[in-house]
Amino acid sequence: MPSYDIKVNGKSLSVEAEADTPLLWILRDQLKMKGTKFGCGIGQCGACTVHLNGNAARSCSLRISSIGNAEIITIEGLSEDGNHPVQLAWMEENVPQCGYCQAGQIMSAASFLSKVENPSEEDIHQWMSGNICRCGTYPRIKKAIYRAAKEGVTE
Ligand code: FES
Ligand code: FES
Repeated sequence: MPSYDIKVNGKSLSVEAEADTPLLWILRDQLKMKGTKFGCGIGQCGACTVHLNGNAARSCSLRISSIGNAEIITIEGLSEDGNHPVQLAWMEENVPQCGYCQAGQIMSAASFLSKVENPSEEDIHQWMSGNICRCGTYPRIKKAIYRAAKEGVTE
């Protein structure tokens, strides 16, 4: 089986997998990083969102052979103590309900806010529309994004 050198949360790791194995499988099953969730497996729900070179990416739809030297950040690596501005805003606004979609939501929001300083409601709606929440926490997600935007997000 081929082996791949990847960078996850600042660490260089080597994994063995078939070339078409999704990154999500590697994160959860091989590296035991369970924060990134499996939802649909076909790029439709956003539960599996991680950062690839700072951009939000669906790890269920990324083949391990396509990752190369890209810097992967998962929810476990977003901040040292859960103190990223988006995570703090999520706590202040009490966003999660069941919690299942929330790591993906936070990773999408963090990537978004690192690129857009003062998002409009439409900006937020457009960007976050690919992240599905079955519990319907959307109003609180929006409030938390506004709150985090005020704090400023640089990474
Ligand atoms: S599990 Fe990847 S988008 Fe749904
Ligand atoms: S909080 Fe339950 S799916 Fe989003």
